[in-house]
Amino acid sequence: MIPPSILILSLLEVELLDFAMLLKLQNMETVAVITKAEPHESNTNYAQGGVSAVLCPLDSVESHMQDTIVAGAYLCDEETVRDGPDTVCHGVDTMNTETQEVIRFISKVTLLASGGAGHIYPSTTNPPVATGDGIAMAHRAQAVVSNMEFVQFHPTALADEGLPVKPNKARENAFLITEAVRGDGGILYNLSMERFMPMYDERAELAPRDVVARSIDDQLKKRNEKYVLLDISHRPREKILSHFPNIATECLQYGLDITHQPIPVVPAAHYMCGGVRAGLQGETNVRGLYVAGEVACTGLHGANRLASNSLLEALVFARRAVQPSIDHMKCSRLDLSASSCWARPVVPNSLGSDVIDNILKTTVKVRKELQSIMWKYVGIVRSTTRLETAVGKISELESQWEKHLFEQGWEQTMVGLEAGEMRNLFCCAKLVVSSALARHESRGLHYTIDFPHVEESKRLPTIIFPSPINST
Ligand code: SIN
Repeated sequence: MIPPSILILSLLEVELLDFAMLLKLQNMETVAVITKAEPHESNTNYAQGGVSAVLCPLDSVESHMQDTIVAGAYLCDEETVRDGPDTVCHGVDTMNTETQEVIRFISKVTLLASGGAGHIYPSTTNPPVATGDGIAMAHRAQAVVSNMEFVQFHPTALADEGLPVKPNKARENAFLITEAVRGDGGILYNLSMERFMPMYDERAELAPRDVVARSIDDQLKKRNEKYVLLDISHRPREKILSHFPNIATECLQYGLDITHQPIPVVPAAHYMCGGVRAGLQGETNVRGLYVAGEVACTGLHGANRLASNSLLEALVFARRAVQPSIDHMKCSRLDLSASSCWARPVVPNSLGSDVIDNILKTTVKVRKELQSIMWKYVGIVRSTTRLETAVGKISELESQWEKHLFEQGWEQTMVGLEAGEMRNLFCCAKLVVSSALARHESRGLHYTIDFPHVEESKRLPTIIFPSPINST
């Protein structure tokens, strides 16, 4: 047992760096930082768009705010509210993935900076670590979760199957073709080289990403095709190469010269606008538990995040969480009674390696099945029937998986990275589906054919209160 004063669970997102640096400046020495994978592996590391901020004298904070509110489909909280503090967070149980040893950290303050849940879908721009662990843990720890129906699909991820040379193996995360390509004059065509965006929206390729993603989805379904084409080749070669060097290099590796040929693209899950409901200082309804970055739902993004607002939000809220964390730490006591032993076995020694292999193989299969249910029934365009079908299919899949673990002698044992992630993926998928079912309108990223319009009376966040489950 290690009793730090402050504990940070993170994928080394930008918010963690800021938070940890500020704590260090305040001479806070008893800080533990826990990451799931390599320290550099995080959504922050993949953000091509940078941080949005007002730098040019022709721009203004008001205009940035207005853009954020319009993109968020008028669901952004201008003054983020919070519910009063409820049950207390005393830290976390973690597992050393090398030794399988469970280590309990007891702390006065815990900050989750663990990113989003892109891997509830089969194709995502998120790195493999983005399995919704922070959201699921906080939900189990009685935190309020909000706006989970608002999953942002990026309209243009590289469609590997449209490349002249196919990658040797499936990527762990889809390669992002930044929307700056559309901003720079990129034009979207279907495979018959028909420009289709003007048919859907007068802003054509410059429409917000939810509109562009839905239009591409419609083209793919109507034409039974797997991808569309994004063409920037009409722009001067030097400009293309200097503005998009990474994209040019990546595509060239697979035989595609973007200065001459269109890029095959397809939408992919990109950003979770919902998450653990947080107040203006990153605080949650659970005393001692703070959140920053994609794991949080601060109200800033509303129903659809404006490009490049994610790192901005992460930095601002991580910074704001510093002082209340220190204040909380000074006025609270470490609850060592929370130090009772881990109630569940670690991967039992009695299990043979063949049994563990079998469990792992099943878990990989179950993960793929969950992702395909989410894409098919809870994707870019939704309906009540499809969402209800998803509820049934997810519940059946989860019961089968738990039964399999039980039969293999792994009951009560969620320890093991793959099993832990699977449990969190199930939790986040269910939160997305139940939030989507609760919203009887289409707003921002949530579009359902049964309620195709924005309803002014429904301009409220979707709130999921915790169910009384006694686990962390
Ligand atoms: C992009 O550059 O298209 C992605 C940036 C973002 O999602 O903020």
